[in-house]
Amino acid sequence: MPNIKARMTPTHTPCEEQKPEGCGIIIFGASGDLVYRKLLPSLFNLYLRKLMPSKFYILGFARTEMTDEDFRERVREALVDAHEDTKGEILDSFLSQCRYTSGDYSDIEAYKRLQKKASGCEDDFSKKENKLFYLALPPQLHPTVVSRLSQSGLTVEGENEDPWARVVFEKPFGHDLQSALELDKHLTSMLKPSQIFRIDHYLGKETVQSILMLRFANIMFEPLWNQRYIDNIQITVAESVGVEHRGGYYEEAGCLRDMFQNHMLQMLSLVTMEPPTRFEAEYVQGERVKLLKAIRPWSERTLKENIVRAQYAAGTMDGKDVPGYHDELNIAPDSTTETFVGMKLYIDNWRWQGVPIYMRSGKRLNMRESEVAVTFKRVPHSVFGFESQHEMPANILVMKIQPDEGVDLTIHTKQPGPKSCMASLSLSFKYDEVFDTAPQDAYERLLLDCMLGDRTLFLSREGVEAAWKVVDPVLNFWRDHPAKAPLHPYKAGSWGPKASDDLLLRSGHLWRNPPDEHGTHFKSLAKPLLVRK
Ligand code: BG6
Repeated sequence: MPNIKARMTPTHTPCEEQKPEGCGIIIFGASGDLVYRKLLPSLFNLYLRKLMPSKFYILGFARTEMTDEDFRERVREALVDAHEDTKGEILDSFLSQCRYTSGDYSDIEAYKRLQKKASGCEDDFSKKENKLFYLALPPQLHPTVVSRLSQSGLTVEGENEDPWARVVFEKPFGHDLQSALELDKHLTSMLKPSQIFRIDHYLGKETVQSILMLRFANIMFEPLWNQRYIDNIQITVAESVGVEHRGGYYEEAGCLRDMFQNHMLQMLSLVTMEPPTRFEAEYVQGERVKLLKAIRPWSERTLKENIVRAQYAAGTMDGKDVPGYHDELNIAPDSTTETFVGMKLYIDNWRWQGVPIYMRSGKRLNMRESEVAVTFKRVPHSVFGFESQHEMPANILVMKIQPDEGVDLTIHTKQPGPKSCMASLSLSFKYDEVFDTAPQDAYERLLLDCMLGDRTLFLSREGVEAAWKVVDPVLNFWRDHPAKAPLHPYKAGSWGPKASDDLLLRSGHLWRNPPDEHGTHFKSLAKPLLVRK
């Protein structure tokens, strides 16, 4: 389908970032993968963009024994890998702010050492002691670490949060609703709600944030954004990677906990929530929670019919054979952990009554591709010679989350030639073609916001709880009635099991993928696009 390119005109909104005040960033779990792959490269990027505070330090903490020098060496390697053009001097000055201390997470003495080391780093701070604790740790360790931090006085804030102490928690927040509630009770007994920052890194992605801007900064979408004009919504997060080295974690989590309880439901809430009064935490979080609470509760029938779980079997990707889930590292040979989930759900409110929402995510799918596709209803009456309006192709708005970040809107127009000859075009733009800078990494956004104390893109306690309330009944149903919710196999490199296609077909829909022979992804049950009677 032909593309019409967008041209960018300057915006009128303030695009300047704020610079945070001096603080220490203390990373727990500082020998883990996330820290070197995401956190440190994001902090370094902020440093390159001159958005780190003028006084800061990074203090790693983990069980592994390392000197400051060893730690700096590991950080250097990670940054050189992540940034091809790392300049020696800048890198050296960033590294000089990195320190490390080791200890057992439950040993109060280790926290005393940590405190001493942090104080040493703050010697030349004009304004002392703001601290950001980042828990890049499995959730079982969260209560212990928070207890010790609190016992050693490290999380005590001054009057009016001056100095402040904030604690960032990586997902998962609990294993189910019950454990999430218990965890929360524990955390809130030691920290004020304003000190707790729950990260869902999808909310930090530029393209996920742009869902709100597209909806609420353009007058033409909002009047149509409801059950009168929208036929269905599809949210896909397809990953081509398998479970990689995370078998131990993934066996316990599975796709529903790993992707739906957080990323998928948060994206859904941004696409379907009511307009917030202001783009501020209280308002945005509030609307997201209201939406999650409006998701129709599951019945035994919908648990059986509207959710598909599946696991990848061996297959071929990019011409290479890849193993099935059972043959991956640290996976039980008879594991029933799902690596794919497809579901259809409804939102019970005035805006969305009756609109099917399809969501799917899985590992080892055909390609890495995340998008939200909103398919509008067809025009009510056919003027141009189609036998009925059902044959008219629909307008589809696609928000491409990754990798080809952009927006795509299919419209229909007159094709030169006979009077009623119609063509479908795609009005589209790609971020990297329109803007000079590539979208920043989600962690960069979220770390900066946390230092600035802006909670808009973080999860609230109510939000986490509401998401568990959607997911918990499904987990319980799978556990208690495995025969009623069979685990389908799918070939690595495919688009998931046939059952996932059937889920849509039953309502007369199709997934937008796989791409058609033109590579455009446009698929519809309507007749081909250039129809003329
Ligand atoms: C994480 C999940 O939260 O998100 C991973 O634990 C998943 O299993 C990852 O691969 C996907 O994130 P992204 O940013 O690569 O789409």
